[in-house]
Amino acid sequence: MTETKKLLRSLAGETLPTPPIWMMRQAGRYLPEYRATREQAGDFLSLCYTPDLAAEVTLQPIRRYGFDAAILFADILLVPQALGADLWFVTGEGPRLSTVTAQGDFDALKGKDDIHDRLAPVYETVRILARELPSETTLIGFAGAPWTVATYMIAGRGTPDQGPAHRLMAENEALFDALIDRLTEATVEYLSCQVEAGAEVLKLFDSWAGSLTGEAFERYALDPAKRIIAELKARHPGLPIIAFPREAGARYVGFAKATGADCVALDNSVSPEWAALHVQVDGCVQGNLASSHMVTGGKDLIDETRRIVKAFASGPHIFNLGHGITPDADPENVALMIETVRGMAKG
Ligand code: CP3
Repeated sequence: MTETKKLLRSLAGETLPTPPIWMMRQAGRYLPEYRATREQAGDFLSLCYTPDLAAEVTLQPIRRYGFDAAILFADILLVPQALGADLWFVTGEGPRLSTVTAQGDFDALKGKDDIHDRLAPVYETVRILARELPSETTLIGFAGAPWTVATYMIAGRGTPDQGPAHRLMAENEALFDALIDRLTEATVEYLSCQVEAGAEVLKLFDSWAGSLTGEAFERYALDPAKRIIAELKARHPGLPIIAFPREAGARYVGFAKATGADCVALDNSVSPEWAALHVQVDGCVQGNLASSHMVTGGKDLIDETRRIVKAFASGPHIFNLGHGITPDADPENVALMIETVRGMAKG
């Protein structure tokens, strides 16, 4: 049977008249219906762990806008929690975790096969979504990449420069490597269960890949992604995977080939014209409108959206933002972006 889902066609390497569209953090605080469901759940983590409500917020942007893909509603920090870390969110500040900085902290973590009790509600959310999504909408599962997740586990919070993680890497390489390994193995198990529950595509978020330089980039961004992708594709032949080594800059070049990813997601620090020439030559790319346009809208949004669609028009492309949409975005601007992309069908 010929594939009819636009997102899967782009990931298979097809160039379509207009690209499929979805947005990072498309279920989020900029939507009044999200805020209402989050209020009903009580707090963010309860929302993540209540399958009916997590499925509901995943579906909200699909109903409102008809995106070509839905991304499972969850968080990259559920894996550390399943490994035994304490996790909580401080309103207006972000996540807090118990830290892993000494061998004893690492020894107290659970093994890769002991994470599923905690994560079972996430798999249930995927099963609900696989049943309820419209037939043209692709379901994307995800996890954080080991380096990015490790930066939160080591610092116990988000950090501007990932200093604590870089420090541990320099001062106790064996412990740092053991943590990356445990996360790599647990991520494979977690993502594999998402696929068994009905996820059709996976995305690996390496939000802090840009702070790795030189050999550390190979070792902690590229190699873990390669291991995770190889193992998942061995277990689930034909499964498409999107890698997001955010802020990788010149190291976006060749990243898909080196890791086996079917698509790389581009942040908006690289120009679409450059990326078309140097990254899209290897296959599908995703991106890369600056999320600030979702706040400001108007002619700039339209011009920049058209520029990106045009730059990537001669190869496989998935339209997205360069990073997540922010809570101050205007829902009307999202509609304007979609209308602009879909209005560009080649004659
Ligand atoms: O894209 C989606 O809609 C899917 C769901 C999703 C969330 N977080 C929901 C969320 C995904 C894919 C993530 C990934 C994630 N989480 C990343 C990697 C991508 C990125 O943005 O760089 C990171 C670093 C996290 C960790 C995290 N979660 C932080 C730092 C925060 C706090 C920041 C903030 O915006 O408050 C979260 C909370 C979070 N995760 C929210 C959402 C919708 C906001 C929570 C709320 O409703 O209060």
